[in-house]
Amino acid sequence: MASSDADIDFEVRTLGPRTVPSPLAPLLERRRTSHHAVEEGDRILFDDTRSSSERRGDGELPSLEAAGPRRKIFFDPSKTRVGIVTCGGLCPGINNVIRALVSELTTHYGVRRIHGFRNGYQGFIPEYGHDVVDLTVESVDGIAALGGTILGSSRGEQDIGQVVDCLERMGISILFVIGGDGSMRGAQRIAEEIGRRDRPIGVVGVPKTIDNDIPFLDQSFGFQTAFSEATRSIRSAKVEARSAPGGVSVVKLMGRHSGFIACYAALAQNDADFVLIPEVPFAFDGPGGFLEVLRAKVRSQGHALVVAAEGAGQELFTEAEAEGGLVDASGNKRLQDVGRLLRQRITADFAAHGMELNLRYIDPSYVIRSVPANPYDSVYCTRLAHAAVHAAMAGRTNMVVGRWRRRFVHIPIQLAVSTRNRVDPNGDLWWSVLEATGQPASLGEGAEAIEVPAFGGQ
Ligand code: F6P
Repeated sequence: MASSDADIDFEVRTLGPRTVPSPLAPLLERRRTSHHAVEEGDRILFDDTRSSSERRGDGELPSLEAAGPRRKIFFDPSKTRVGIVTCGGLCPGINNVIRALVSELTTHYGVRRIHGFRNGYQGFIPEYGHDVVDLTVESVDGIAALGGTILGSSRGEQDIGQVVDCLERMGISILFVIGGDGSMRGAQRIAEEIGRRDRPIGVVGVPKTIDNDIPFLDQSFGFQTAFSEATRSIRSAKVEARSAPGGVSVVKLMGRHSGFIACYAALAQNDADFVLIPEVPFAFDGPGGFLEVLRAKVRSQGHALVVAAEGAGQELFTEAEAEGGLVDASGNKRLQDVGRLLRQRITADFAAHGMELNLRYIDPSYVIRSVPANPYDSVYCTRLAHAAVHAAMAGRTNMVVGRWRRRFVHIPIQLAVSTRNRVDPNGDLWWSVLEATGQPASLGEGAEAIEVPAFGGQ
C-alpha cells in the first residue's frame, strides 16, 4: 500500500440536489438490496486485504461511491440535451460505449436529444467546422460490430473556454467523454471551467486505453480484446522461430509505460521465453544479461521467442537519442524503438558468438486496437456506459466510471489522472509471467525493477 493512500479524496462532485423522480424508480422499487445490489448510499471499500485495513487503524476506511441508478435524479430527462465525444487513440469497444450510452439515455430515461461531437475536442471548436451528429437508437444500431469510433477521434487539448462556450451555445446538460488520461485531464478542466461559470452541466468520463494504465480500475475496456488479438502475433512468431535453425522471434506490442498487454498476451499464448516490459529494466550485456540468457535458451531449446512492450528498455538508449524524442499531441513522450534495438543487438551478438540466427520481427501495432470488442469487452463497455448514464442523470460531475474490486464505482477525474496503473514487479501478475516463461527475475546486474503504487488492478 502506498503511504499516500490515506490522503486520497474519493468524493465525487455533484451539481445539486436530486429532486426529479427517476423514470427507473418503478423498476428500482422491486429491487432488493443483496450482496450484488448495494443501496444508493453504500460505498465500495478501497482495500481488499485485512492487513491493509488494519494498517489504517481506527479511522474511517477509504471507499468509493457505488455506481448505479438513483430513485431521484438531478436532470429532467425531457429537457436534457446530451453530448458525446471520443478522444485519443483507438481502443476496441468505443462504439459499444456510444451505443449503450444512447440506448440507456433514450430507452430508460427518455432523453431525446443526443449529439455526437466529431473528432475529439476539435468538434467543439468553430474553426474546425466539424458537423455535429444526431445520435439515435436507430443510428447507433450495429455500430458495435465496427472497430474504432463512429465519431472520429483526435489527440490534443483545445481551448477550454471555447469548448464550454460551445456546450452553453448548444444547451448541453451532460457531456460524456470517452478518452484516455490526456482526454480526462481535458474533461477535468472543462468541468472546472463549467464550475467557474456556475452552470449546471455535468461532465462524466468513460476511461479508455488499451495500455490498461488508468489507475483505480480493475481493468480498462478494450484491453482484453487487444491482448487477445496480440496472441495471434505470438502464435505466428512461435511457428516461425521453431521452424528455422537458430530461430529467434521478437514481437513488439503496444504499451508505453505499462507492460500489461505484453504480460497478458504472453500468458494467454504461453509461448514466450522472455517478456520485456517498461517496469522491469534489463541489461543486454554482462553475466546474466539478456543476450547471454537468450543465447543459452537458443542453444538448449533450438529457438526463442521474445515479447517486448514498446516502452521496454528505454533506459538503454543513449541520452542523445532519448533527448531527440518528441511528444505527441497528447503530451506523451515519443518512445525510442526498442524493436529496432533488439534486432540490432541480437544480430550483432549472435554473429560475435558464431551462432546461426534466423531473426523474425513482428510488430502488430495498430492491428490489436482497431478490432471490434470481443464479447467480454462488449459486456463491460455496455455496463460502464449504463453506469455513466446513471451517474450523469443523478447530477454527478467531474468523474469517471470504473470497476474496482469487481464493482462499478464513481471515481473523481482527479484521481483517475493522478498516477498510472503499472505492472508491479513484486505483484502476482509479473510473477505469473516469470513462472510461465521461465525467464530469470532479473536480466543483468544493476537492472532494478521500479516501485509502483498500489492503485491498479494487478
Ligand atoms: O492509446 C494508447 C496507445 O495505443 C499506445 O499503446 C500507443 O503507444 C499509442 O497509443 C499510439 O498512439 P497513436 O495513435 O497516436 O499513434
